[in-house]
Amino acid sequence: MKVIGTESSQILSSRIADAVRAEIVGVKFSKFPDGELYLRAGAISDEMVVVGSIIDSDSFVQLLLLIDACEGSEIQLVLPYMGYARQDKKFHDGEPVSARAVARAVSQNVNRTITVNIHDPSVLLNFSAPAKNISVAGAIGDHIAGMALKDPLVLAPDDGAALFAHEVAGKGGWDCDHLDKTRISGDEVSMAPRKLSAENRSVVIVDDIISTGGTIATAASMLMQQGAREVYAACVHGVLSGGAFARLKAAGIREVVCSDTIERGCSRYSAAGVIAGIIQDGKRTAGRR
Ligand code: R5P
Repeated sequence: MKVIGTESSQILSSRIADAVRAEIVGVKFSKFPDGELYLRAGAISDEMVVVGSIIDSDSFVQLLLLIDACEGSEIQLVLPYMGYARQDKKFHDGEPVSARAVARAVSQNVNRTITVNIHDPSVLLNFSAPAKNISVAGAIGDHIAGMALKDPLVLAPDDGAALFAHEVAGKGGWDCDHLDKTRISGDEVSMAPRKLSAENRSVVIVDDIISTGGTIATAASMLMQQGAREVYAACVHGVLSGGAFARLKAAGIREVVCSDTIERGCSRYSAAGVIAGIIQDGKRTAGRR
């Protein structure tokens, strides 16, 4: 087995290769004069792990090209971050189900797909090959443990992330809750933990994605008004669009961290361990057949 990654997942693919003790295949990435993408992979093997986060249109095309370059091999596709997954239904007439379109396109010629904390697991039904979603909640829990906070309170910004927050908090046996939003007037909302008080607590807000940072910035401001001692933000996928990192820091958040599903300067924990585990489990199961 060998591992190969797109440009957006260079570091993570190398970490996965190290963790499964496989060779990483070097790839030359460039562009044709008209802007079309080109790549040339080194020697592939008959079993390939292809790793590529879809963070924009170029990374999506690059992933399709890389899968094609591995034609003839048995392919396990790792989609650490699946862009377009949030458009998982038609919200208005005439819209595509973008998550379905992307899932179908990337899974055509692969044998299995692995996703990481996908926004909604029902998206997995759109892949043509068997797909499994895994969680890096444990790695986030380990990171929080390393922060040595006194009695932290782990909070989800909404009930959609509540299960995930419980998974993270379970790692250290920390208190956990989620924020409830109350509309005060037409343009004013208030957010507060559903059951627990944030007063004098070190709060870690955890979510699957930080995109514009709007959700967490609002939550952090409210929590500080409610007497939180300090607020941290931790997510799986640091999309961090449109100046989100600075916006969160400006909102008073002490530290903003994410995993390496999207490789950022604030990537502080890796998805490589859980991804390697599932790849190795697959190998063991195949070996038993
Ligand atoms: C939404 O359902 C997701 O779990 C995140 O809460 C959301 O994508 C965050 O977006 P933003 O950072 O733009 O507020």
